[in-house]
Amino acid sequence: MPPRNHSQWLKKPKVEHISSDIYSSFEIYRQEQDMIFSKVWIPMCHISEMRDIGNFRTTKIAGVNVIAVNDYERVRAFRDHPIEQVAGTLSCPYEGEELYCEVKHGGMVWVTLNPNPDMNVEQWTAGAFDCIADAIDAEEMEVFHYHKAVIDTNYKLWHDTNSEFYHDFMHYFNRVSGFNDEYFARKNIPFDNGHVNVSSFTVNYEEYDGFEDRGELSFPNLPPNQWYMVDLFPGFNFNLRGSAYRSDAVTPLGPNKVLIEFRGYGLRKDTPQERQTRIKHHNSIWGPFGRNLHEDLIGVAGQGTTMREGTESRNILHGRHENSTIHDEVGMRHYYAEWGKFLERDPASTYREAA
Ligand SMILES: [Fe+2]
Repeated sequence: MPPRNHSQWLKKPKVEHISSDIYSSFEIYRQEQDMIFSKVWIPMCHISEMRDIGNFRTTKIAGVNVIAVNDYERVRAFRDHPIEQVAGTLSCPYEGEELYCEVKHGGMVWVTLNPNPDMNVEQWTAGAFDCIADAIDAEEMEVFHYHKAVIDTNYKLWHDTNSEFYHDFMHYFNRVSGFNDEYFARKNIPFDNGHVNVSSFTVNYEEYDGFEDRGELSFPNLPPNQWYMVDLFPGFNFNLRGSAYRSDAVTPLGPNKVLIEFRGYGLRKDTPQERQTRIKHHNSIWGPFGRNLHEDLIGVAGQGTTMREGTESRNILHGRHENSTIHDEVGMRHYYAEWGKFLERDPASTYREAA
């Protein structure tokens, strides 16, 4: 096949695709804040981070300051607070414009800016957590790890990384020791409202150099060494790898800038020795010197560089159909179909076409 010239490169492909413009347009970023992040349920923190009465945590959702407070019997959330700290303890009850707030799915604190949500959290998540519900709801969980990263990339590229698995070949250590036939047979399963989960397989940790079996500390009701992932629209990921649980939450800061908060969880009842082992398991995969997370961050920073504002529109193909197995792009197609509904816009149309 002869090399393609510029106009041939720009031609619409004959398979499912989206435009790279949706990762780089400031106008689309603003629409996403108004039409997605202001409307949906956001898992803003975990109940274990605010266990005592008066404990609070703050965040920003779609540019609005949001505070969640442990207010006696329940957690309440309010908008437009003036508090500068991320966390702390209030000495008297908070007064303000209250938001809908629920504690659900392993103790996550969910908040929505939507003054009239037409779904509760259970309805919104639409069964995407069912596969891990018995594991994360049987015992109280506790956050043992928190870090955040501000990355020059679009938040959707982070969610893509948690949804497509063909970048797994980028992960050096996974590539050399982690894959087996069961890994490639994992299925992507779509749920209503744009969510997807990735079915489990048994990880042979003993084949990882320097690793040990994790069966003994597997979460409750979970067969040993399983690995489930829940990708929640529009940018939240829940990752259960046998003995440790991780959540990622995005806060878009611009078309090419995202804050990602990472939390690691164990069980509240852990002995000090068990907790130490869980932390070690968590960090060996997802810590700064682990075998996975930092490589993902480098990957999306590279994508952010090539798709930043002012770069030329390109077509991002989502055409792989492989019986919903691990490299099938069904999850990506499902996500962007939902995104298109929220924004009332075809994700395949370039910014110029839509204007
Ligand atoms: Fe990855």
